[in-house]
Amino acid sequence: MTKRIALVTGGTGGIGTSICKRLHDDGYQVIAGYYSGGKHEKAQQWQSQLKEEGYHIALAYGNIRDYDSCAACIEGIKKDFGPVDILVNNGGITRDTTLRKMSPEHWDDVIATNLTSVFYMTRLVINDMLASHWGRIVNISSINGEKGQFGQANYSAAKAGMYGFTKAVAQEVASKGITVNTVSPGYIATSMIMDVPEEIREQIRMGIPVGRFGEPEEIARVVSFLAAEDGGFITGANISANGGQYMH
Ligand code: CAA
Repeated sequence: MTKRIALVTGGTGGIGTSICKRLHDDGYQVIAGYYSGGKHEKAQQWQSQLKEEGYHIALAYGNIRDYDSCAACIEGIKKDFGPVDILVNNGGITRDTTLRKMSPEHWDDVIATNLTSVFYMTRLVINDMLASHWGRIVNISSINGEKGQFGQANYSAAKAGMYGFTKAVAQEVASKGITVNTVSPGYIATSMIMDVPEEIREQIRMGIPVGRFGEPEEIARVVSFLAAEDGGFITGANISANGGQYMH
């Protein structure tokens, strides 16, 4: 059997890198979607570094906030590798601030990048998945979509929106061998968390029952589980991996 094609948006970031590595270890042809404001060199350096570690991961440029850019990205992948079998919607940003200070730009940036992008990318791969009667879509949400977070009205709304999207689409495509699920990471030791002021970060860490932040690999293994060949009966689900910080 030819290798399944896995696309990870935000693939060169903190959690994205671990997901790419894990799916590579699982035997898929992995493609890391990146944007980084058009800094192609940075992505190429990332790719070279991983190559030295034995990971052969392709790159695909695209602005997930822009439908035409997403379409060009998917077309390029189809041309070079074939249709996407596994889509991991992982790309996202934060623009943390309390609501009283939140501007329309803070709101729009986060909703477009973290939620509308999930519609764009999923819409662009779904017909090929339907045609091949197989597909895996994994949406990376957040503990803060589940519980809300002070200073993240925009981010919490976007991440919560993913659950509705996931469950609706899961119903539409279930009979065609396609699963759609969310993973909700808690606080993972990546640069996104390092943007939170140290004092607040420490308070958050103290509220995590396991007593530490998560590792990106601990999210990647959940994605790997959901993407697996024998994962066909898990759909419309959400798997939380948050060190016990939020239980429901
Ligand atoms: N609950 C209740 N009150 C809080 C609070 C909380 N969690 N955090 C701060 N406050 C209070 C402060 O004590 C202060 O009170 P006083 O005015 O009475 O002194 C007030 O709120 C501060 O309000 P401001 O509007 O002035 O807020 P700020 O500008 O000082 O900072 C913030 C706001 C930037 C959002 C800051 O609180 C912050 O960074 N919070 C962390 C947000 C966070 O967790 N982000 C997650 C990033 S990682 C990620 O997103 C990945 C993932 O999926 C988990």
